[in-house]
Amino acid sequence: MKQKNDVLQKILSLRALLTEYNYQYYVLDAPTVPDSEYDSLFQQLLQLEEAHPQYFSVNSPTQRVGAEAIKAFHSIRHTIPMLSIDNVFDEVSLQGFARRIAERLQSNDIAYSCEPKLDGLAVSLHYEAGQLVRAGTRGDGVMGEDITHNVRTISEIPLILRGTTPPQRLEVRGEAYMSKAVFNSLNADARQKGQKTFANPRNAAAGSLRQLDPRIMKERRLSFFPYAVAFISDDMPLSNSHYERLLSLKEWGFKINGDSERVMGIDACLKYYEHLLARRASLTYDSDGVVIKVDDIHLQEELGMATRAPRWAVAYKFPAEEVMTQLLDVEWQVGRTGTLTPVARLEPIFVGGATVSNATLHNFDEMTRKDIHIGDTVIVRRAGDVIPEVVGAVLAQRTQNTRAVSIPTHCPVCGSPVYKVADEAAIRCMAGLHCPAQRKEAIVHYASRKAMDIEGLGDKLVDQLVKQNILQSPADIYRLDLNILANLDRMGIKSAENILQAVEASKKTTFAKFLYALGIREVGEATAKILAQHFQSLEALYATNEEELMALNDIGPVVAAHIHAFLSETHNKKIIQAIVAAGVQWPQVEKKALQPLLGQTFVLTGTLETLSREEAKARLEALGAKVSSSVSKKTHGVIVGDAPGSKLDKAHELQVPVLNENDFLALLRQGE
Ligand code: IVH
Repeated sequence: MKQKNDVLQKILSLRALLTEYNYQYYVLDAPTVPDSEYDSLFQQLLQLEEAHPQYFSVNSPTQRVGAEAIKAFHSIRHTIPMLSIDNVFDEVSLQGFARRIAERLQSNDIAYSCEPKLDGLAVSLHYEAGQLVRAGTRGDGVMGEDITHNVRTISEIPLILRGTTPPQRLEVRGEAYMSKAVFNSLNADARQKGQKTFANPRNAAAGSLRQLDPRIMKERRLSFFPYAVAFISDDMPLSNSHYERLLSLKEWGFKINGDSERVMGIDACLKYYEHLLARRASLTYDSDGVVIKVDDIHLQEELGMATRAPRWAVAYKFPAEEVMTQLLDVEWQVGRTGTLTPVARLEPIFVGGATVSNATLHNFDEMTRKDIHIGDTVIVRRAGDVIPEVVGAVLAQRTQNTRAVSIPTHCPVCGSPVYKVADEAAIRCMAGLHCPAQRKEAIVHYASRKAMDIEGLGDKLVDQLVKQNILQSPADIYRLDLNILANLDRMGIKSAENILQAVEASKKTTFAKFLYALGIREVGEATAKILAQHFQSLEALYATNEEELMALNDIGPVVAAHIHAFLSETHNKKIIQAIVAAGVQWPQVEKKALQPLLGQTFVLTGTLETLSREEAKARLEALGAKVSSSVSKKTHGVIVGDAPGSKLDKAHELQVPVLNENDFLALLRQGE
């Protein structure tokens, strides 16, 4: 009996600790322990729960990873209807809203809560005795769908309210949404894999919450901001101010939107709106306006409802970021690496604060999947500084006069045949530097600031020089002279001299910058630095093979293959030779301390006798290794101490080498 209680105590204290760490990480953005510590406690809890299923709890942190899929959604009824709000689109209508309130309340001194209107999905959360018991979508306002299984995976939603005395019953409403960062990274991933992308963060959030399988939902990494306390039981007196109620939700473990503000009077609301609109592009979430609410709950009750929406709230919408227009044509642009990008020519349209007449269609696969025809009415999205894009066609408005986009068989610039590379979403012109478009982009990249940094040698000038066949490769830059340059369009002697000076000055560079400047596919600045550090010289780099490359940090098989292919090409070697012969040089790369484990990844599990986990990690990293929290096929070794977790099983399963403490100490001695 005693032992049983001990186990339960241990389980409960681990749950409490992990819940607290979750809160620090997701809500406060201020973790107090390293991920490895969290992982190790999590594994302990997982094992205890597996061994003692009688102590299972749906609100354990282990259940956030997503349980079994459900078969269908159940309906739930909202005892308090979930309302919508009236929209206004201009200042005059906003003043109208304030005037009606002033008349009804016989006062102009009204405090308002101003909140960003998040573009996601409304969710209602029910807590009983501090435990999350049910979560639903808005549906038609009265009947919604039960999405509890999915909502449990949202890290920013507490499964158990913090604090010792939670209210008996609580209903919180708010917006589940996808941050811009997550949206962009999921779409970039999907694009690379040639998979379907999300049209916008709102669709992504809505689509995720409608998944039957919570494991899919978990990968979508949704966020949540509460915007109302819809119900609270009498045992917990709350402030009469809506804004302060939101603040008190923070104590219970919710992440609240720090961009919300309480202000006096409608003019201050207007200022708030202008200010948020100016910051719109830099917000971490998509917002389509400002929700303005009378802050005093009693006054809210006094104002009550109009036919459809409450009289005490209004949404002042921002200018649209998505609009419809006509697709006039599709043209193909050839990029630095030969990728053909479909570009939409549009009937000019005002969207997100600018007039747009071109928008990207991303790549061949995506365009085909979206089934976009020339002549279609299309939805164009321009959010912040992001390049405008065509989200999709409005199929309901398609007429007889549209036609499918024909797929180019030849490069529109150089006429070489184009290929669709297996496993790639793009079609590609393989002519490399023979293709003037790629030549131009390669030279612009070579001269760019982070590469060789040749000031003045920009897009327009390179375009001219390539068109006149003066520049055929980056090496030709060093053959430019005053005579050639001064004869170009819009070029005076002085500017020509400046460019020649910049070319001269750029010859002193670093090995890393030079490697980056070569424009090898998939080799960005970071990879170029790793290559420079490891190989130190061109000769050593020429002598390498794909295997050695893959042993380096962050270099996978694809990148290794690109580097190897580039360096094996005689044409490229000749260009490099010519560049070096022209006097481009760099100082000897400083050798870092010996790093015998560079490029290797290890995972630690269990308790070591001689070293703490932090020390073990630091020692490995000092030898160049990476320490990861999960075992994959790429892991070089799993270091096992006392009472190891499931990572050991995973190591056996994936046949990853297992090292005991002695093996590990021997490994560390390599660095001595
Ligand atoms: S308050 C009675 N506050 O906008 C008022 N709504 O059309 C209930 N929304 O369905 C809503 N951010 O999903 C409120 N800060 C915010 C909001 C917000 C987004 C959404 C919500 C609602 C819709 C109203």
